[in-house]
Amino acid sequence: MRYLHNRSFRPLSFLIGLLFLAGFAHAQTSPRIVSLDGTVSEILCDLGLQARLVGVDVTSTYPESLQKLPKVGHNRTISAEGVLAQKPTLVLTTEKAGTKADVLDQLRSAGVEVVSFKQEFSVEGTKKLITDIATACRVPSKARGLIRQVDTEVAGVKKAAGRPKVLFIYARGAGTMFVAGRGTPVEKMIELAGGQNATNQFDDFKPLTAEALVGANPDIILLFDSGLESLGGANGLLNVPGIAQTNAGKNKRFVMMDGHLLTGFTPRLGKAIGELARKIAPGGTL
Ligand code: HEM
Repeated sequence: MRYLHNRSFRPLSFLIGLLFLAGFAHAQTSPRIVSLDGTVSEILCDLGLQARLVGVDVTSTYPESLQKLPKVGHNRTISAEGVLAQKPTLVLTTEKAGTKADVLDQLRSAGVEVVSFKQEFSVEGTKKLITDIATACRVPSKARGLIRQVDTEVAGVKKAAGRPKVLFIYARGAGTMFVAGRGTPVEKMIELAGGQNATNQFDDFKPLTAEALVGANPDIILLFDSGLESLGGANGLLNVPGIAQTNAGKNKRFVMMDGHLLTGFTPRLGKAIGELARKIAPGGTL
């Protein structure tokens, strides 16, 4: 007792010291995460891990607060240097994001842990991705609430009637236009919403041609908000060769949605399917 008095033991300083050490240890073990996929980023935020993110790709548009983080590029054009500049300890992505294997290998060679999740474009696939990310980030119990939310929201969706033929066009100006074929996430979304893909001639994405457009003759043309905007709106789209000859062009049935919500298969899946179903339904709101 005397010893303690003599050495002027101060409980407050001792406590502050302990807190400092705990904070230091935490900083050493907390990962610095770069996400190369908008869906992964959104799930990380939903799991309460946004503070761990130090960089994201350009498809990471939701929640809005991600906008303040450094952007490291867009799927196939991502470079290892851009990612490493954010000094990550962990890089998370999906196979769908399409980042080149040699870029991921370069990151691994630089000592960064890289996890590439397999994402299936279905309700079950979304729930599994949530579980996989929560497990990889050591917060498995946090997945449950999110999964319940997905189930509840998807259960409340009403599909569009009449199986309208929908063609999705990815546009970044008139010089960069692609059509979504078989097996694409957007095809699965169209089906979940009650429509059918107007083209089943090829897998993945193909550059748009006037012949393919006229051949597919969609009832509805679906684009990202940013895609239609990049063409100068509905009038710009009508000037693209072939569009005006389709049923969609004749009836000006152009439908837009937020790109990440439409193609991401995120925890907001029910909201996304519901919005698309309303928009492609006969007489639906654009
Ligand atoms: C040659 C192929 C592609 C190019 C050149 C390209 C280019 C771009 C660029 C420049 C942006 C940033 C736009 C901005 O910040 O306003 C962007 C965003 C985005 N891209 Fe791509 N992209 C391509 C393919 C794709 C494909 C196939 C998909 C999936 C369908 C996709 C999904 C997205 C999404 C979800 C965004 C987020 C912003 C938004 O909704 O517009 N991209 N892309």
